[in-house]
Amino acid sequence: MRVAVVTEPYKVKIEEMEKPVIGPEDVLIRVMSAGICGSDLHLFKGTHAFRNPPAVLGHEVAGEVVETGSNVTRFRVGDRVTVEPQLGCGQCEFCAAGLVNLCTGKVVPGTPKWCGTFAEYFAAREEITYKLAEGVSYELGTLAEPLAVAVHAIRRLDLSEKNSIAILGSGTIGLLCLVVSKQYGFKQAICTDTAPYNLEMAIRLGADLAINPLKEDVVKAVRKFTGSRGVDAAVIAAGAPTIIDQASAMTRRRGEIVLVAMITEKVPVYSYSLVFNEQRLSGAMTYQSRDFEEAVRLINDGLDLCDLVTHRLPMEETQRGLEMLDRKTENVVKIIVHP
Ligand SMILES: NC(=O)c1ccc[n+]([C@@H]2O[C@H](COP(=O)([O-])OP(=O)(O)OC[C@H]3O[C@@H](n4cnc5c(N)ncnc54)[C@H](O)[C@@H]3O)[C@@H](O)[C@H]2O)c1
Ligand SMILES: [Zn+2]
Ligand SMILES: [Zn+2]
Repeated sequence: MRVAVVTEPYKVKIEEMEKPVIGPEDVLIRVMSAGICGSDLHLFKGTHAFRNPPAVLGHEVAGEVVETGSNVTRFRVGDRVTVEPQLGCGQCEFCAAGLVNLCTGKVVPGTPKWCGTFAEYFAAREEITYKLAEGVSYELGTLAEPLAVAVHAIRRLDLSEKNSIAILGSGTIGLLCLVVSKQYGFKQAICTDTAPYNLEMAIRLGADLAINPLKEDVVKAVRKFTGSRGVDAAVIAAGAPTIIDQASAMTRRRGEIVLVAMITEKVPVYSYSLVFNEQRLSGAMTYQSRDFEEAVRLINDGLDLCDLVTHRLPMEETQRGLEMLDRKTENVVKIIVHP
């Protein structure tokens, strides 16, 4: 089968590889659609924490079941599916608590134990495979993964008051957090981004206010919008040196801040603001299976996210897609690759 491999930093090649051989608990999926995600960009640039070239790209996927293992009961050939791309060890305290996202022994695609999804075929365990409803496109099915990230982030918030939320960074993840925050009862949402196109998209997806930090003092704007009180919650979905301070300064006393962005550099934090205002700052790492299930349910129930897909490319153009996402040479949110 053909796969898209990062052979060395900034170089993607289409190569031939053996089709995966499935075990009794697995399904084999013909990949119809795969999404380019921030972590693929890290692999492409050679900055990923544990995915190193050479590696097959991709973990977001939707496709058609073409083969089932002998113990598989819930799927048949022809089913349209998406996959939660993480498999816990099943034995540690985190797996036992349903926190597969925190399992130190978890296996993910694009590593030696599991091929990535930028491939003609992708093998997955039945237990992490989910059916797509009739009428849900493969593209939409591919978005279940980033949507699950957003579901997990919003569920990390533990607030009784949900008047307002600020989302800092309106890329795929920030925009999906916006959509999920509305589903979870936040009455007003404010989004920020440095790109005008992303701000427009935020308004289209239901943001009540969209602010560009390059043009406006976002803290002042948020304070003004919330009658000086500040938002109940802030989600950090972009990396910038001052962004944690920004979130804290626009959040109310006893409010909550959740960090989804992977900021791998050390950034200074004015911790006094967190103390003085008794704010809670937490991290959100991928998703639990219950979050992925919820994301698939939302999509199967008709949540329309098609606007987020700005580009569709054949697998041969993966390199161009990654470069586009890296340099933001075009108005881009989610790029879908069709193997
Ligand atoms: N925690 C997780 O499990 C998880 C999962 C997926 C992605 N992520 C991380 O979440 C972040 C967002 O991912 P994405 O796919 O949406 O990336 P993205 O690059 O599409 O979006 C980031 C957005 O932030 C904007 N931005 C840049 N500087 C900004 C600033 N100072 N203020 C406001 N906006 C700014 C950019 O214009 C862009 O639209 C990344 O750091 C990514 O690594 C985390
Ligand atoms: Zn992803
Ligand atoms: Zn485990």
